[in-house]
Amino acid sequence: MLEKKNILIIGGNGFLGQGILKSLNFQKYNISILDIFLDIKNLRDYKIQHYFKCSTLEKNKMRNALKEEKWDYIIHLAAFGGNGNGLLKAASEDFNKALNINVTGFANLLDKLKNKNTKIIWASSTVVFGEESTYLQESVKENSILNPSTKYGLTKLMAEQVANYYIKNYKMDISAIRFPIIIGPGLNYRGVAAGISDMANAIVQPNIKYKILLPSTPLDVIYIKDASEIVINMIDSKVKLKNIYNCASIRTNALKLLNEFNKFYKNKNLIITNNIGTTYPIMNWQRLEKDTNFKIKYSIKKLVKDWLSQI
Ligand SMILES: NC(=O)c1ccc[n+]([C@@H]2O[C@H](COP(=O)([O-])OP(=O)(O)OC[C@H]3O[C@@H](n4cnc5c(N)ncnc54)[C@H](O)[C@@H]3O)[C@@H](O)[C@H]2O)c1
Repeated sequence: MLEKKNILIIGGNGFLGQGILKSLNFQKYNISILDIFLDIKNLRDYKIQHYFKCSTLEKNKMRNALKEEKWDYIIHLAAFGGNGNGLLKAASEDFNKALNINVTGFANLLDKLKNKNTKIIWASSTVVFGEESTYLQESVKENSILNPSTKYGLTKLMAEQVANYYIKNYKMDISAIRFPIIIGPGLNYRGVAAGISDMANAIVQPNIKYKILLPSTPLDVIYIKDASEIVINMIDSKVKLKNIYNCASIRTNALKLLNEFNKFYKNKNLIITNNIGTTYPIMNWQRLEKDTNFKIKYSIKKLVKDWLSQI
């Protein structure tokens, strides 16, 4: 029998971390979690090998956690979430803390893994690109110009540069995936996707009045189960992964999503009000498909059905 791989998920208590936990095959991997906040009651459903309650900024605790096992993979998902109003807002409200967690904490981790044989997969974001209107091409590739328009985007771009430095100078095996907006059940902070979660929750309660604020501008989304599958495909890939991957996404908008939810339930008391959001360029994700065999399983229709079945 093949030896189980040791995986440490940093930021594993969050939305994406929980999604990955649900999708992972625990027969194949020993999973451990490091997070500044651990909801043990929730995590009890899984056979977690080690819990480390610490911040990536706590050098001694990090050193001890990293010494605990020979880690085959570290999945780094930690990001500054501020008061729970979304990663974008958090970085704009406290840039120093966002720099500390999104960049310095990540750099500390890479520095400690310099001479180890650990593969690192981490979450970057589509926000490293600027607004769609600043690009001439229809879709952007991994090497297209990066031009973040937010402080959150800037921290992700800096983290990409940090990773490139360690890859070049220490031949480390580090791969990022630039996620678009991840949607689905389990989101517990008020970021861009929260309005879509509100829509899902409101639609099944037709007698309650809801007013939800959502951008009228196009949104590029991926369902949490697909986002989690990507990370697992990256772990399982037989190909040596590249430093960066654009992620697959589906272009939609608030109205299209509402129409799809309305096919299952109708809540006439649900009012959507619009503001203008940011649209990032559509990412070309051929490289991801080629190297990991990933294909989107959840169209808007399918994800809405799956989501509502869980409420
Ligand atoms: N959710 C999205 O739509 C989306 C889109 C693009 C990229 N991403 C990236 O994916 C990653 C995961 O996102 P998420 O939606 O699960 O966010 P999340 O806030 O739900 O999860 C982040 C986790 O990191 C933990 N954390 C924060 N600071 C820490 C620190 N210093 N040390 C240890 N743990 C710390 C938090 O407690 C939390 O459990 C983030 O890096 C984010 O930037 C997310």
